[in-house]
Amino acid sequence: MRISVIGSGYVGLVTGMGFVELGNEVIFVDIDERKIEMINSGKPTIYEEGIEDLMKKHAGKYKATKDYREAVLNSDVTFIAVGTPSREDGSIDLKYVKEASKSIGEALREKEGYHVVVVKSTVLPGTTEEVIKPILEKYSGKKAFKDFGLAMNPEFLREGVALKDFLNPDRIVIGTRDERTKQVLEELYAPINAPKLFTDIKTAEMIKYASNAFLATKISFANEIGNICKKLGIDSWKVFEGVGLDHRISPHFFRTGIGWGGSCFPKDTKALVRKAEELGEDPIIIKAAIEVNERQPLKLIELLKKHVPELEGKKIGVLGLAFKPNTDDVRETRAYVVIKKLIEEGAKVIAYDPQARENFKRFYPDVGERIEYASTPREVLEATDVILIVTEWPQFEELDYSDKIVIDGRRVRAAERTARVYEGVCW
Ligand SMILES: NC(=O)c1ccc[n+]([C@@H]2O[C@H](COP(=O)([O-])OP(=O)(O)OC[C@H]3O[C@@H](n4cnc5c(N)ncnc54)[C@H](O)[C@@H]3O)[C@@H](O)[C@H]2O)c1
Repeated sequence: MRISVIGSGYVGLVTGMGFVELGNEVIFVDIDERKIEMINSGKPTIYEEGIEDLMKKHAGKYKATKDYREAVLNSDVTFIAVGTPSREDGSIDLKYVKEASKSIGEALREKEGYHVVVVKSTVLPGTTEEVIKPILEKYSGKKAFKDFGLAMNPEFLREGVALKDFLNPDRIVIGTRDERTKQVLEELYAPINAPKLFTDIKTAEMIKYASNAFLATKISFANEIGNICKKLGIDSWKVFEGVGLDHRISPHFFRTGIGWGGSCFPKDTKALVRKAEELGEDPIIIKAAIEVNERQPLKLIELLKKHVPELEGKKIGVLGLAFKPNTDDVRETRAYVVIKKLIEEGAKVIAYDPQARENFKRFYPDVGERIEYASTPREVLEATDVILIVTEWPQFEELDYSDKIVIDGRRVRAAERTARVYEGVCW
C-alpha cells in the first residue's frame, strides 16, 4: 500500500519505517526542513535502535516532503502522528493536530479515489469525531465515512524498543465507523500477528489513555511501597518479584526507582485528569499517581544528603540524562528534576549520557558554571567521588565504582557491588 505519515518524530518515523519493512511505500511529511533533509539522506530524525539499518535497507521506498498535496495524492492512507503536548494547565494542546487536519483536508479536496485518514497521535476521547472530522470535512468539502475513511489507531510502542514493539505489538486497536476503512486497515495490518481489537472511535481513544494511566499508576504504586520498604530495610525489587508472580497482577512495570518521565505518561495522565474534571469527575487515583511521581526523583537528593549534607560547591556526577535507556528523548526526564535541585542547592554537576546530551543542553546549556557535560562515563568518575545514577544505560554496568558514594535511582548492579557507599532509592 502507499502510505503517508504526517509528523516524522518518534512515532511517525518508527510507524512509517515499520510499514516500509512490511512491504509498503511511505511518504513522510513534516514542517521541520531539517527532518525532511535527514530522512531524504537516509538518516533517522531520532535515536532508536534498528531504524538507521531499515532506512539503509529500504532506500528508495520512502521519502520525506513538506508538501501535503504530494503526500496525500500519492498515497491511499494517511496517518496523523504529530505531537499532542500539554498546555501550561495540563490540558491537551491540539494545535498540531488541527493544523495537520486542515492541510490533509485541503489536499483531500483534489483527491479522486477513496482515501483513509488514521489518527495515531494520542488524543482524548471525542477528538477524532468532534475536532478532526469537522476540520477534514470543512477543508476537503467531502463527507467522512462516505467520501473518505476515518479511523483512530492508538500507538503503544515504547521508546528504546520502538521498532520491535511496532512489528510485534501486544495488540492493535482500531476504532472505526465504516466497513471500508476497517477493511483497509485489516489489510494493512494483516502481516502483523497480534490480537486486533476493533472498536468505535472514542473507545479506541480511551483505551490509550486508560493503558497509560494504569501503567503510570502501577509504577507510582510500586514506588510508594518502595519508599516504605526503604525505611524498613526491605528490598522492594524482591517484594515485587513476589507480588508479580500472581497472574492477576503480572511482573512487568514493577521496577521501583525515581519514577516515570517521557513524552507520554506525564502529559497523558494530566490531560485525562483535566478532561475528567471538565466532566465533573475527580480522578483521585490518577492525581495521586502524578503526585507520587513528582516527589520520587527528589528521594535521590534526600538520600544524597544523608552522606553529603552540604551540597554548596560540591561536584556531583550524574549518569544518565535521557528519560530512559536507549533513547535520546529528554521530555519530562527525571534527570531535569534532579539536576535542577542540585543546582538550586549550589552543587556543580558533571553529567554524562550516551545519546541525550545534545537534547538535554536545551535545558541547561554547557556554560561551565554550574553544569558540564562529560564525553565518557569514566570522565564523570574521574571528576568526582559522588555519583547519582538517573538512567540505567547498559554501559553503566561496565564501570568500576570503588571509592565512590553512589546514590542509585535505577538499580545498576555494578554500582551496588562495587561502590564504597551505596544507596538504592527503594532498596
Ligand atoms: N513517543 C512515544 O513513545 C509515543 C508512544 C505512543 C504514542 N505517542 C503519541 O504519538 C504522537 C506523536 O508523538 P512523538 O513522540 O512522535 O512526537 P514528536 O514531537 O517526536 O514528533 C512530532 C512531529 O510532528 C511534526 N509536526 C508538527 N506539526 C506538524 C504539521 N502540522 N505537519 C507535519 N508535521 C508536523 C514535528 O515537527 C515533529 O517532527 C503524540 O500524540 C504522542 O502522545 C507517542
